[in-house]
Amino acid sequence: MKIGVFCPIGNNGWLLSENAPQYMPTFELNKQIVQRAEHYGFDFALSMIKLRGFGGKTEFWDHNLETFTLMAGLAAVTSKIKIYATAATLVMPPAIVARMASTIDSISNGRFGLNVVTGWQAPEYSQMGMWPGDEYFGKRYEYLSEYVQILRELWATGQSDFKGEHFQMEDCRVSPQPQSEMKIICAGQSDAGLEFSAQHADYNFVFGKGLNTPTAYAAINNRLKHFTEQTGRDVQTYVLFMVIAAETDAEAMAKWQSYNEGADIEAINWLMNQGGKDTTSGTDTNIHQMASSVSPVNINMGTLVGSYAKVAAMLDEIAEIQGTEGILLTFDDFVQGVEDFGERIQPLMKSRQDVVAEYQPTQTLEKSA
Ligand SMILES: Cc1cc2nc3c(=O)[nH]c(=O)nc-3n(C[C@H](O)[C@H](O)[C@H](O)COP(=O)(O)O)c2cc1C
Repeated sequence: MKIGVFCPIGNNGWLLSENAPQYMPTFELNKQIVQRAEHYGFDFALSMIKLRGFGGKTEFWDHNLETFTLMAGLAAVTSKIKIYATAATLVMPPAIVARMASTIDSISNGRFGLNVVTGWQAPEYSQMGMWPGDEYFGKRYEYLSEYVQILRELWATGQSDFKGEHFQMEDCRVSPQPQSEMKIICAGQSDAGLEFSAQHADYNFVFGKGLNTPTAYAAINNRLKHFTEQTGRDVQTYVLFMVIAAETDAEAMAKWQSYNEGADIEAINWLMNQGGKDTTSGTDTNIHQMASSVSPVNINMGTLVGSYAKVAAMLDEIAEIQGTEGILLTFDDFVQGVEDFGERIQPLMKSRQDVVAEYQPTQTLEKSA
């Protein structure tokens, strides 16, 4: 089972709550998190792109670093962990993204990969006059499909003459080409998104669901399989969960309760309003999940709350789901959370024993001394 960390590139990470840790995103913070994650054998670090926040008392995500420049910096201060940035494909031409990716491939010595997103929140783009109109919702994966074919062509051959509905390349060049095969992530959950991933992506990311229901997302693996059977490609799921852990279940649950009591209602209302705008992709999408009111304080992502042992057991349950290759983690407090994961949770996970064997958690060393 692979494990990744979803870098807190926006303020306050993923909790829309006045009672959650309040912090700004900085390079130093992300460096500390990713270097410690690398130390504990995390396989990858990913950052999203967010161009406009949700407001509210906590100014949720009104403060966001830029993903390529952040990840380029992190690539320079790490040596093993894989690094992924996210392309906002509506506003970043593919030839520029291909070249930025080649550059970070060079900085990281072949450890870079790319997450591609279509965009779902119009104000991120309309604020700069670059939202194509709501009819875009219905064809965003056709657009992305042309985009990714150009990327792949440029990385493989250094040249593209691609002609499509959205892009026309004229002997377009990118060199140097990346030294390693560039992996592409997508986080599709609509049928169009899953079909795109089955055709073009290397991994598909999805949101976990619910509170302490680690396997509730599993049905999407079968939906993805339906499409990969048609394309004949092997594309596995990576699932996103927040971990809120403590010595005991009661302590961890008290934190979750407090975050819920401090919910930033104004920011949550913005999220629900924006998340409901795409009416073309069906209702079982990540974005509609984000717009539901099940556990909005964590953007309706799956949340694992409990003692270190309970969280380890729930993560092992996820590892058993067929078609799932990895888990992407967020934490209520990232610095403490990565330490607790490395020292207290991972050593208890059956699905990570191969990794634990490669480093000695400090606590184990202390106990045996
Ligand atoms: C792990 C993960 C990362 C994502 N990163 C971004 C991002 O950086 N920017 C963005 O606009 N959307 C992001 N999304 C949303 C997806 O790109 C996608 O639009 C969403 O999952 C809905 O699926 P659909 O496009 O098939 O409807 C992310 C989703 C997940 C699960």
